[in-house]
Amino acid sequence: MASAARIYDGGVQRTVAILNQKGGVGKTTVTLGLASAAAAAGRRVLVVDLDPQASSSWVLGVDPSETSVTVADVIEHGARASAAVVPSSWSELIDVLPSSPSLQDHEVGNAKRLRKALDAIEDQYEVVLVDCPPSLGNLTRSALTASRHAVVIVEPSALGLRGIGGVADLIDDVWEATNPELELAGVVLNRVPSVSSEAERRIDELTRIVGRQAIWMPPLPQRVIVNQAIGERRPIHAYGSRAAEPIAAFDALWRKLRTVVRRAL
Ligand SMILES: Nc1ncnc2c1ncn2[C@@H]1O[C@H](COP(=O)(O)OP(=O)(O)OP(=O)(O)O)[C@@H](O)[C@H]1O
Ligand SMILES: [Mg+2]
Repeated sequence: MASAARIYDGGVQRTVAILNQKGGVGKTTVTLGLASAAAAAGRRVLVVDLDPQASSSWVLGVDPSETSVTVADVIEHGARASAAVVPSSWSELIDVLPSSPSLQDHEVGNAKRLRKALDAIEDQYEVVLVDCPPSLGNLTRSALTASRHAVVIVEPSALGLRGIGGVADLIDDVWEATNPELELAGVVLNRVPSVSSEAERRIDELTRIVGRQAIWMPPLPQRVIVNQAIGERRPIHAYGSRAAEPIAAFDALWRKLRTVVRRAL
């Protein structure tokens, strides 16, 4: 019976899964923008890179090929998270649980191992951010099993909205099967162009699907500097006034996330 596997351990109160099955919508960019905002506000965060592409590890200055213990060891072999966590090159306030390309071969990981591992260390952080791969497979299931909150990243385009139902179904499924504490914290709109009636129509459509309350404000604008920061492997806050608009958006989203996490503690 599914309910027999449900977890009532009171753990992982500060862990947030950042997800969408669609690739390239900005899961990693939003995870890293939030980490940058947290550090700028003087808060400690852990970024868990659950994507075999290892993008967030790389951008945070961690080369998974030079890391002896990774999140794959945690999921596959029950390694302790504390043995795998390393400091980022961005800030002493941002740590990384690095990914490994071998995660790809391990899609059948034990969903509860990550939860147990994060439960042991999450008190050291204000928030733990889990950057998910672009799939609704076992890795994302592990992330949701290990999380108190889920944040879905959506691009306001026709293709961006396709698949939202599948994401909601997976959240429901994990809630039902293993994690009754899981909640959809909200939907973050990313890559919103300055002027686009198509984007506006899609935002209206999304509002009808998930409700106005679920969509976090402000949306993140599509800006070259956001892409540049990722390419240069630097926090968006390092760009100062050149990135004023995205920085203000990430700061506001960080405050929202922090409020949601603290309220649920
Ligand atoms: N608001 C934005 N403005 C400009 N470029 C952006 C923005 N958000 C994301 N990008 C760019 O889009 C690309 C994809 O973003 P990102 O890697 O964060 O998406 P993802 O959802 O994590 O992708 P994947 O599914 O492959 O993990 C990156 O090059 C990133 O720099
Ligand atoms: Mg990514």
